[in-house]
Amino acid sequence: KINAAVFASGSGSNFEAIMEFDDLICDIVVLVCDNPGAPVLEKAERYGVPSVVFNAKEYSSKANYETLLVRELREHGVEWIFLAGYMRIVGNTLLSTYENRIVNIHPSLLPSFPGKDAIGQAYQAGVDETGVTVHFIDEGIDTGPIISQEPVQVNPEDTKQTLKERIQQVEHRLYPVTINQLLRNS
Ligand code: GAR
Repeated sequence: KINAAVFASGSGSNFEAIMEFDDLICDIVVLVCDNPGAPVLEKAERYGVPSVVFNAKEYSSKANYETLLVRELREHGVEWIFLAGYMRIVGNTLLSTYENRIVNIHPSLLPSFPGKDAIGQAYQAGVDETGVTVHFIDEGIDTGPIISQEPVQVNPEDTKQTLKERIQQVEHRLYPVTINQLLRNS
């Protein structure tokens, strides 16, 4: 089986969806987290997935902590990285080590609403359709090649919260399925 890592910063509902997916054709062998208080860490513990936690502020540069992360990932035999609510820009150290093997999920139909708070951006813009994108990471912010997308309608009665809930339901279904398709074709 292929070894993979999940990178997450927050609640970890996408991490959980990946772990709960029955026929995932890779093993999630490590969780990388940049937030020592993130709820995703308890989830990893519950699934028996070891976690690597770091505080970016303790390092003088991105290259510094990413070099350490690459070492940890190699020790775990990681071949693929799946970002699931990882709120940091991936730097050259990771990108060059895992070229075309870092994948992200983003809560909009890219190229619309890249960056932070994509759900809030779409809600404020008053669009009647937004969605979810799974894409490769490149040097830009949410600009890498798209792997899969699914639209989500914005209803007139939606609040930002109800819209977020529907988007995340789609994420939890789309991400594991896309991971499997990707690994099957690679
Ligand atoms: C997800 O909605 C994911 O698409 C988003 O963060 C959320 C994490 O939720 N990612 C981004 O906005 C990346 N720019 P989770 O921690 O419950 O999986």
